[in-house]
Amino acid sequence: MFKATAVAPANLAFVKYWGKIDPRINLPCNNSISVNLSEAFTTTTVEFDPSYQNDEVVSVNATEKASTKFSARVSAHLNRIRSIANVSFKARVTTENSFPSGVGIASSASGFAALTLAAIGALGLELSNNQISAIARLGSGSACRSIPDGFVEWIAGKDNDTSYAITLAPPNHWRINIVSVVVSQITKKTSSTDGHSLAPMSPFFEKRLDTIEKRLELVRNSIRDKDFQQFGRELEKEAISMHAIAMTSPIETIDGWISGCYYWLPDTLELMLAAQNWRTNGLNTFFTLDAGPTVHFICQDDDLTNLLSNIDILKNKYPLREWRIMINQPSLGARLIPTK
Ligand code: DP6
Repeated sequence: MFKATAVAPANLAFVKYWGKIDPRINLPCNNSISVNLSEAFTTTTVEFDPSYQNDEVVSVNATEKASTKFSARVSAHLNRIRSIANVSFKARVTTENSFPSGVGIASSASGFAALTLAAIGALGLELSNNQISAIARLGSGSACRSIPDGFVEWIAGKDNDTSYAITLAPPNHWRINIVSVVVSQITKKTSSTDGHSLAPMSPFFEKRLDTIEKRLELVRNSIRDKDFQQFGRELEKEAISMHAIAMTSPIETIDGWISGCYYWLPDTLELMLAAQNWRTNGLNTFFTLDAGPTVHFICQDDDLTNLLSNIDILKNKYPLREWRIMINQPSLGARLIPTK
C-alpha cells in the first residue's frame, strides 16, 4: 500500500558547490550548475508498514561498514519525510546503484534523490518539484540537483524553502559526452562534507565567491547557446578554482597537520596536462574534477573516438594502470517507476 520505487541519476557539477552557509540544512555559499548522468543512477524502493519495528535498509552495493553509516543517514532522512506526512511508520528500503562504488561518481546524490522521491511517492504526498528538490538537499546537498531533468542549476537561496534546483535545459537540448577516467579506487582522505567545512579556511575562498556570479552566467549562457568553447574553458577553470580552495584549506587530521587537501593523484595531473596537449593537436575536450582523483572529460560526438583512443594510449603506457572508463550523456532527473 505505502510502497513506491524511484530512479534518480548521479550528477556532475560544471560550477561547483564548495562551502556551506549553514551545514545543518546544506545551505550552499553559491549557486551551482550540473548535468544528470545517463548511465549512473540509483533505483530505490521504499515500503512503509505500520507493523515494522525499525527501518531496514538493504543496500545492494554497499560494504558492511558503509552500510551501517548509510542506514543511519537513510533513517534520519526518512524522519524528515515522515514528519511532513505526520506518520511514524517504519520503512523497508532497498537501494541499488547502476555503477560500482569507488568509480569517482558520488552515489550520495543519486541515492538521496531516489530515496526522497520514493518515500514521498509511497506516502502519497503532493509536493512540487522544487519542494522535492529542497528535501533531497537535506540528505546530501548535491542530491537536490538530481531531481530536475537535464542541465540543472541549484539556486542557493536564503533558507530551507528557497534552496532547490531547477532545469536550465532538458537532456536532449545538447548532446555532450562525459568521459570519466577513474584512476584509483582508494577511498579519499577528506570527504566532500569535510571539504565544505574547511573551504572558508582558504585565504582565496572569498575571492572565489566574488567571481562565481560571472562564471555562472557564462556557463548558463554557453549551455543555452551550445557554445562548447566557452563552456569548456569555464568548466575547466572552475574545477581548478575549487581545487585551489581545497589545496589551501589547512586541516588538522588524526595523523597531524596538513597545509591543504589534495584530491589529485599523479595520474590525475598527467591526464590534466594531456588534455592541454590534446587540444593543441585539435582534440576538442575539456575536463572537470570533483572531490577525488577521477578526471571527467567533456566532448562532443565528433571527438569521442579520438578522445577514447588518446586516453587508451596513456593508460597503456604503464601495464599496471587499472583505469576504468565510464561514458555518460545528459539524462532525465528523478522519476517514479512501477514497483515490482
Ligand atoms: C565536489 O553534495 O557530496 O562534488 O552536502 O555534504 O553531502 P554534502 O556534500 P556533497 O558535495 C559535492 C561536492 C562536489 C561539487 C558538486 O557536486 O557541486
